Amino acid sequence: MGILDNEITKRRTFAIISHPDAGKTTLTEKLLLFGGAIHVAGAVKSNKIRKTATSDWMDIEKQRGISVATSVMGFNYGDYKINILDTPGHQDFAEDTYRTLTAVDSVIIVVDVAKGVETQTRKLMEVCRMRNTPVIIFVNKLDREGRDPFDILDELEKELQIAVRPLTWPISMGASFKGVYNILDRGLDLFTPDKQHVTERVAVSDINDPVIDRAVGEREAERLRADVELIDGVYPEFDEHEYLAARVAPVFFGSALNTFGVKELLDCFVRIAPSPRPVAAVERVVEPQEEKFTGFVFKIHANMDPNHRSCIAFVKVCSGVFHRNALYTHVRSGKTYKFSAPTAFMAQKKEIIDDVYPGDIVGLPDNGIFKIGDTLTEGELLHFRGLPSFSPEMFKYIENNDPMKAKQLNRGVEQLMDEGVAQLFTNQFNGRKIIGTVGQLQFEVIQYRLLHEYGAQCRWEPISLYKACWIESDDEAELAQFKRRKQQFMAVDREGRDVFLADSYYVLQMAQHDFPAIRFHFTSEF
Ligand code: G4P
Repeated sequence: MGILDNEITKRRTFAIISHPDAGKTTLTEKLLLFGGAIHVAGAVKSNKIRKTATSDWMDIEKQRGISVATSVMGFNYGDYKINILDTPGHQDFAEDTYRTLTAVDSVIIVVDVAKGVETQTRKLMEVCRMRNTPVIIFVNKLDREGRDPFDILDELEKELQIAVRPLTWPISMGASFKGVYNILDRGLDLFTPDKQHVTERVAVSDINDPVIDRAVGEREAERLRADVELIDGVYPEFDEHEYLAARVAPVFFGSALNTFGVKELLDCFVRIAPSPRPVAAVERVVEPQEEKFTGFVFKIHANMDPNHRSCIAFVKVCSGVFHRNALYTHVRSGKTYKFSAPTAFMAQKKEIIDDVYPGDIVGLPDNGIFKIGDTLTEGELLHFRGLPSFSPEMFKYIENNDPMKAKQLNRGVEQLMDEGVAQLFTNQFNGRKIIGTVGQLQFEVIQYRLLHEYGAQCRWEPISLYKACWIESDDEAELAQFKRRKQQFMAVDREGRDVFLADSYYVLQMAQHDFPAIRFHFTSEF
């Protein structure tokens, strides 16, 4: 096996996703502890936004600003190189999370045993499904009373629309939580309620081994046997290929806070999770083993210090090796660039790196050349896809408050949109600009950044819209008729594509009914 193959095989690039408070930060931290990347608990505050500060968005932005280093956490674990891509917890930044999911090869979903599947988890799973991303589920907080594990499994299957297969099984929970039985390895992991204590493993020959009765008591042992029998009867045997094809999600139970079930999760993860997968470009599928470097920008992080307006573009390496100081083609502009200070993300530190392999993320200093979704190559004109924009949830007209600064405003808006802060639509009828976001916070962030980084003043004016959808049709005449009929509600996105701004659910439904030859898309990728 060549060096490149070797480097690819050992890489695992993934994201941990959850509804806020399920335990994503805690689990991330424990994984880093096992990887030796940090040595004390509490070292990761990552993108976690303090609850007391949710009203103060400036604080949120500051936290986002300083979290560059924790955006990607790389560490070695045994023979593996692991990259955890962090995702913002706040739902107003959900779009950032969607984009990060385009750069991972698999995902771990954390679910709170008492709360089950929550809204944010459901939405994120939709993105994973769209992209066939393999998922592993970690049911957390077994040290607390929660729901019946069988109910949780049913809910996971129904709500996340994926078959599940438990690989560990909890023995009681809450105050009487005894530990988990490892179905795959036939071991018993005993729980000690202690944050520093690492799991005690008891080897058992099989589920009928009397060692289990002695360890957890006869009653619990009997129940465990009945449960495992039921599981084996109901769920097909775990098949790694099914997992890799994103058709089944293995389920683990544990308690991140007590570091319980985490090492088992990690060990199984590195064994079964995919190494960098082929990536689809518009032109062709790119294999990671290809000799020539290709990569794409999935995130741009602005510097919060107004005196240093440079940003960092996060590039996922898809194939070949990225070399420092080599010349690469920026496909959108057709220009070539050389990067003398690319950074790697290891153990929360940023450092200059010479060679970067597929699966890894490289940080490139950006003075405005990059846009989310941009492709870098050794000359081939490739366009990676898979960075869809979702129809925003909130819309406002953006107006210039200072006629002397119109240019600054336009430039600022364009750059913020390049960073993916929000989406811009231009009304075809009156030329007014509309900003679409996922949450209120983004409007405040944009206004603040326009003022502080571009010296431009904007104001927001209300517009009542239900959804923006991208439209297309093979029937030119019907499309033209639709656009005429709806001319006040037609806009274009930044790529010049037609967007219909529906002001209510009813209007949208009527439009779909009256114009059957038109396709209405709720993501920009179709
Ligand atoms: P998030 O990133 O998904 O938002 O969740 P985070 O890890 O911050 O965890 C949310 C809360 O749940 C934290 O408590 C954390 O300590 C707790 N937690 C995580 N894992 C477990 C677990 O296995 N068992 C129990 N009982 N609790 C767990 P907090 O009080 O909100 O925050 P903190 O003050 O402890 O940081």
